[in-house]
Amino acid sequence: MSRPPNRRVQPATAAVVVRVDPGEHDIEVRAGESLIEAAWRAGYQWPTLCYGMGTCTACQCEVLDGLDNLSPRTEAEEHMLGDLGRRKRRANPRRVRLACQLFLTGDATIRKPGVRVTENVESTTATTEAGSQVPTDKESRR
Ligand code: FES
Repeated sequence: MSRPPNRRVQPATAAVVVRVDPGEHDIEVRAGESLIEAAWRAGYQWPTLCYGMGTCTACQCEVLDGLDNLSPRTEAEEHMLGDLGRRKRRANPRRVRLACQLFLTGDATIRKPGVRVTENVESTTATTEAGSQVPTDKESRR
C-alpha cells in the first residue's frame, strides 16, 4: 500500500492505543500527549535520563507497526537520533523514535525493553485466576 506524497499527520483528536512489547502493555495515548507522557500518566516506568526533554535518547523505541500513525520526527529527534537507525543496522531508520517526541494519530505497536508498571500504580481492578474482576485500590480493600 503506498502513501500519498507530502502526507501530513493530523493531530489526534481521540485517544489511541499503543501496544508496547515486550510485556504486551497497552497504553492509552490521549490527544496532545507524547508517548512517554501517556506511559507516565498510566503508571509505567519508561527509561529516561532527561525526563522528556529530548536530550538523552534513553527513551528511544522501535516502531513495529503503525508507521503511518506517527507525528513527523522533531528537530530534537533528528539531532539526537541522526543515523542511529542505520548504525544499529535496522532496515528502516524511520522506525527508531524518541518516545518523548512521539505523538500518534492512530494505534501502533512499539518495541521498548525496560517499560514496566511502577509499584505505586493503583489500578481499580485486577483479574483473578478464575477470571473475576476484583477491586485493587486501597479504599476498596478496607
Ligand atoms: S526522555 Fe530523554 S530523549 Fe526522550
